[in-house]
Amino acid sequence: MDHVDREKEAAHDPMAPRGPPSGTWLQKPIVQVTYSLTPTHVLMALLSLTFAALFAYLSLLSKPAPTTALDNGVGKLPFMGYNTWNAYVCDINETVVRESAELLVSLGLKDIGYEYMNIDDCYAEKNRTEDGDIIESAERFPSGMRNTTDYIHDLGLKAGIYSDSGWFTCQLYPGSFQNEDRHVFFCADIELFRETWNFDLLKYDNCAIPFDEIIREGVVGKYKRMADAIAAQAASSGQEPILFSLCEWGREQPWLWAKRFGQSWRTTDDIGAHWDAISSIINQNSFYTWSTDFYGHGDMDIVNAIFAIGNGDLTYEEAKSHFTAWALMKSPLLIVWLQLSAITEESLNILTNTEIIAINQDSVVGTAITPFRWGRNPDWTNDYTYPAQYWSGESENGTVIMLLNVESEPADMFFTLAESPWIRAGRQYSVRDLWTHTDNGTAVRNLTVSAVPAHGVVALLLRDAGDEPAGLDPKCSIMEWCTDQNGTVLEGGV
Ligand code: GAL
Repeated sequence: MDHVDREKEAAHDPMAPRGPPSGTWLQKPIVQVTYSLTPTHVLMALLSLTFAALFAYLSLLSKPAPTTALDNGVGKLPFMGYNTWNAYVCDINETVVRESAELLVSLGLKDIGYEYMNIDDCYAEKNRTEDGDIIESAERFPSGMRNTTDYIHDLGLKAGIYSDSGWFTCQLYPGSFQNEDRHVFFCADIELFRETWNFDLLKYDNCAIPFDEIIREGVVGKYKRMADAIAAQAASSGQEPILFSLCEWGREQPWLWAKRFGQSWRTTDDIGAHWDAISSIINQNSFYTWSTDFYGHGDMDIVNAIFAIGNGDLTYEEAKSHFTAWALMKSPLLIVWLQLSAITEESLNILTNTEIIAINQDSVVGTAITPFRWGRNPDWTNDYTYPAQYWSGESENGTVIMLLNVESEPADMFFTLAESPWIRAGRQYSVRDLWTHTDNGTAVRNLTVSAVPAHGVVALLLRDAGDEPAGLDPKCSIMEWCTDQNGTVLEGGV
């Protein structure tokens, strides 16, 4: 076979050898061409350039949306409220919902931001109607779902509902797959939830996933179906879009894509009311804090363990750590454990810490706290029992610090202020303790908190208080590459 045959062969046979054939390689003759420019050539060149620029511009416009949060007017801040699941599981009914909503108001929780009353799984009949609609359980919601949401709204609250992106919910009630925006029958699920029932929030689960041969898309596509339905429903009705709270337990990295579709995404499996669950969720979320900002929030699951205080599973200090971490990492704050009516004074005090809530609901800074040092472990260690301990973040009113004692006994915790990127070297900072609600003087360069309780937390707000005192030694609080202006490393520098 000569080289020409080989080339032809290679073009058709993917397994054929590529590259120059063995044997003599014939040089192609070089053909010299000379051009002369005419005005027509110039005009055509200009026209082609214009078309090329136009084409490039249009193709830029049609590129997939970048992963910035969807701002459709709802869910700028993490939502706060109550969710029925962890307290009642399937044992819900309209009385439970109405009473919980009333308690949100009478306990003063609504006034500090807990405004959503969310109904989780098990509110429906097991089968859709003949028209194909989801219908509320006649036994659990005898006066109808719309009556229930009207009651919630009349209390000045918002209402949340639950469905699933697959065939069924996790408790095998109807899911919304292929019914998201269906118009063949009476009412698409999104219209039922938003218009007929008038819900303001939709939690959307990930159970009963259709077979690949049916779905032919990944979890992203499965969630996009409802996101598109929400946008279409809002556009056609003129209503505000329902707030979309994705719940696929962090399986397919929702922190990378969910903010295109909704306002929050669960990052982990279900929470449990014990310290192992809390420390494990904090550990996992320490790796995705970067993804949370206005209109898009990593959801660390229900703040349920607070209600376990006194029930054996969680100490008071652990409950404080739980609430602090959730709030400062800008998770939605949905509360529950025991029925709200059984809430203790101690638990209520934690949930109503308005200085902590103010950080969660900061309308100027949307980002979360992030570890600046792991502490017990080398940085970036993935450890479900001993998560990162030294955290900081920005806020409207200063630098937020969270210190977490992951040990089972009290510990002193120490850090150099400038370890946090939000601290300016050479400045000093006033220290506000967000749990004792006291101003604790001024920190210069370092801060030590003694005897932080086992599994306890310290939450501080550091505010710039001007230049640090002159003449401090050493010249830099962080000595790495600290040099004078001639490049000489100072004594103690490295
Ligand atoms: C789970 C979800 C829980 C709850 C439950 C209802 O998948 O994580 O928060 O909604 O389903 O069946």
